[in-house]
Amino acid sequence: MHTIIEPFRIKMTEALPITTRSQRQAWLASAHNNVFLLDAEAITVDLLTDSGTGAMSARQWAALMLGDESYAGSTSWHRFEDTVREITGFKHIFPVHQGRVAERILAATRLKPGAIVPNNSHFDTTRAKIEYAGAQAVDLLTPEGQDIYSETRFKGNMDIEKLAHVIESKGAANIPFCMITVTDNAGGGQPVSMENIKLVKEILNKYRVPLVIDACRFAENSYFIKEYEPGFADWSLIEIAKQMFSLADAATMSAKKDGLANIGGFFGCNNDEWAEDFRNMLILTEGFSTYGGLAGRDLEAIAVGLKEALEYDYQRYRHATVEYMASRLIKGDIPIVRPAGGHAVFIDAAAFCPHLTPRDYPGIGLVNALFLEGGIRAVELGSVMFGRPQPGGRDEIPGPRELVRLAFPRRVYTQSHFDYVIEVLGLVWRQRDAIPAYRITKQAPFLRHFTAHFAQGGNAGAAGFLP
Ligand SMILES: Cc1ncc(COP(=O)(O)O)c(C=O)c1O
Repeated sequence: MHTIIEPFRIKMTEALPITTRSQRQAWLASAHNNVFLLDAEAITVDLLTDSGTGAMSARQWAALMLGDESYAGSTSWHRFEDTVREITGFKHIFPVHQGRVAERILAATRLKPGAIVPNNSHFDTTRAKIEYAGAQAVDLLTPEGQDIYSETRFKGNMDIEKLAHVIESKGAANIPFCMITVTDNAGGGQPVSMENIKLVKEILNKYRVPLVIDACRFAENSYFIKEYEPGFADWSLIEIAKQMFSLADAATMSAKKDGLANIGGFFGCNNDEWAEDFRNMLILTEGFSTYGGLAGRDLEAIAVGLKEALEYDYQRYRHATVEYMASRLIKGDIPIVRPAGGHAVFIDAAAFCPHLTPRDYPGIGLVNALFLEGGIRAVELGSVMFGRPQPGGRDEIPGPRELVRLAFPRRVYTQSHFDYVIEVLGLVWRQRDAIPAYRITKQAPFLRHFTAHFAQGGNAGAAGFLP
């Protein structure tokens, strides 16, 4: 059949607010021009993130009722542990309340000031944890991965030569572990091939550096491998996932993505010493090691969700929705990262707003324009999220790219919602010259994008916006 349908039907609905432009203008002004500070009630289509925003299945809701809330050794913990072990094969498994807890404890227990952590590209929370521990996060994407418009597959791959060079020049003793993020969220949701993970592992083995997979979107990555990497067409997604994890020494996971849950995550590893240190810190800061800050019912929902994320028909539909939107935007000449990623469409805000420089934060201009025009919430992945603030304000080092991400919550929006988004983007595209520069008027020392305040006006460009 040519048409790829949602492999589910809808049993419960949630009303979407339909708002007016003047309401949106007032709300954005009182949120200091930062869409993170808007109330969800102001948002018509929320593409801020695919994290924790998915719709659970009837099987997951049913599993919630099995939640065993015993403090230690609950049956829910055992179901969770069995499922995670079946998929990952790790000897030690710890639940955490979200991915960044796994990152925080890993960083706190394994990193010393001056250490170096290579990755294909660190996501913001991962980078922040590493830097907070006084270590350095190094991104090693291939040249094709850095080229927004290259149609190459597996643009999330790590540059093997650069990895070898970093290890040799900095010394393996200074690299407590290397990470690889599947799929590469910061770089456009681009996948990593099995071949690349194997090559990374070979190099790391030579220098005895452990490999940690940031596995948030492991099931989407498995789908890409099945569809596009030679030799995997006949493999099931779970077989591919198992092979990926078998190459790693540990993994951090946010179950808010490919766990199809609204909260949760895990850390898995094979090393007994790593596990002991992780367990002790988990108990100190989150909760006992069989619940890790989660309710028993959350563990149940994740155990079901991890398996559902590996269903081929679900992944086929999910990738088809992203490709649907990407192909229509390309047809309208709107500059986006190619090929389509696994969980989002990424717009090249620098090309969208050539009248703005990175220091004018074109991504913030575009994000705010989408909200003002159609009540759509997106997120900037550019110089606000990844720029390096310098003492004294605006003389900061810009981020590597100026992207705006339209993330697709799992099993939430239908094709007509995406048609609406495409229409709004088309309107904003036609008025793109009016997108103004923004400057930061208040920011936090870490992860500033969440809470920063912005005001219009910067180095260049237009003063007002979309009358
Ligand atoms: C690649 C990647 N790693 C880690 C995280 C952190 O996960 P969490 O939001 O559950 O803390 C995210 C969240 O978006 C992510 O995309």
